[in-house]
Amino acid sequence: MAKTILITGGAGFIGSNFIRYILNESEAVVVNLDALTYAGNLENLADIEQNPRYKFVHGRIENRELVLHVCKQFNVEGIINFAAESHVDRSIIDAQPFVDTNITGTLVLMNVARELGLEKFVQVSTDEVYGSLGEQGEFTEDSQIAPNSPYSAAKSAADGFVRSFVHTYNFPAVITRCSNNYGAFQFPEKLIPLMILNALEGKQLPVYGDGKNIRDWIDVRDHSSAVWLAYNNGKNGEVYNIGAESERQNIEVVRAILALTGKREELITYVKDRPGHDRRYAIDSTKIRQELGWKPTVNFEDGLEQTVQWYRDNAEWCARVRSGEYMKYYQKQYEFR
Ligand code: NAD
Ligand code: DAU
Repeated sequence: MAKTILITGGAGFIGSNFIRYILNESEAVVVNLDALTYAGNLENLADIEQNPRYKFVHGRIENRELVLHVCKQFNVEGIINFAAESHVDRSIIDAQPFVDTNITGTLVLMNVARELGLEKFVQVSTDEVYGSLGEQGEFTEDSQIAPNSPYSAAKSAADGFVRSFVHTYNFPAVITRCSNNYGAFQFPEKLIPLMILNALEGKQLPVYGDGKNIRDWIDVRDHSSAVWLAYNNGKNGEVYNIGAESERQNIEVVRAILALTGKREELITYVKDRPGHDRRYAIDSTKIRQELGWKPTVNFEDGLEQTVQWYRDNAEWCARVRSGEYMKYYQKQYEFR
């Protein structure tokens, strides 16, 4: 019989791409538990909502009774936890929602998984737990955990709970730590979609600081294939870094977007830096490549071009996600920079 997996946060950017990926690539049945926060959007899954192997449940991962009920009702085999407050700038404004979802929510999911004896738990974590790099070197799974933002502090705390459950209870969990994702359905608070939409509209492109901070980019479809491998073949108790060897300075990314949208350099506006802004991330993903046979398939320039095209083709999606709460956030975030 096909296995049933609980995916949390499946209405967000990576979760929705992941659900689409595994419905295409496997026979698995997917139950998507999502609170539909500002970042959650059922429109991201409109093309699969009628799929008989897909079910949606509206609710929070901190709700123990609900998580228990859902796992029992659908006879869930394992959990992949994407649900999170995910934006660093928002965590600088208010860390509490990050504690509630990213830490408490993860703990609730693991307690239920343990109570029901589920077979696998994947914690979708981030390279930001390792802090910031200088000019040389890459993060390995053995790098020190050194979070610098309230967001990454909450993700690190959750990773610590996962590790403690493995160590204390022999809990069947793996942790994945991926670098910066880009692609279709990303909420336009993050660098790439924000810059694409502003460029398409001829608005200013707010680059923090000197624009020379470095991020290591990966197409969301490559992240999806890695998480799916980690769920199926990852060894319990292990951490797997995921990255596609695509380091770019932010200003290079912004210039590439200007070129793809045919807009002028003058739109670039250097603004006040993000407090505590990590300088450089770079992932060494040798372990998942060697042990699980994963490899990325999309190079950054192709993926970025496809992403720009997706935002061009989905103007209505963009208009809807940017109505209401988004504009209030945008004004608060950028008007004094
Ligand atoms: P996102 O903000 O786009 O989506 C998060 C989703 O979680 C939304 O659908 C939201 O409604 C849901 N959610 C939030 N709080 C919830 C709660 N309490 N209960 C249930 N659902 C809740 O985030 P994303 O960029 O898709 O990131 C997904 C995961 O991947 C996160 O755990 C994030 O830390 C991790 N990650 C992201 C990146 C990246 O570049 N975006 C890189 C590495 C790891
Ligand atoms: O590294 C993985 C992480 O990547 C994930 O865990 C997070 O969930 C995800 O949000 C992302 O974090 P970043 O802080 O790196 O992403 P963001 O898109 O917010 O910023 C990318 C870089 O661009 C960063 O150096 C800050 C800069 N930036 C961002 C915004 C929104 C700007 O210069 N201007 C902006 O307006």
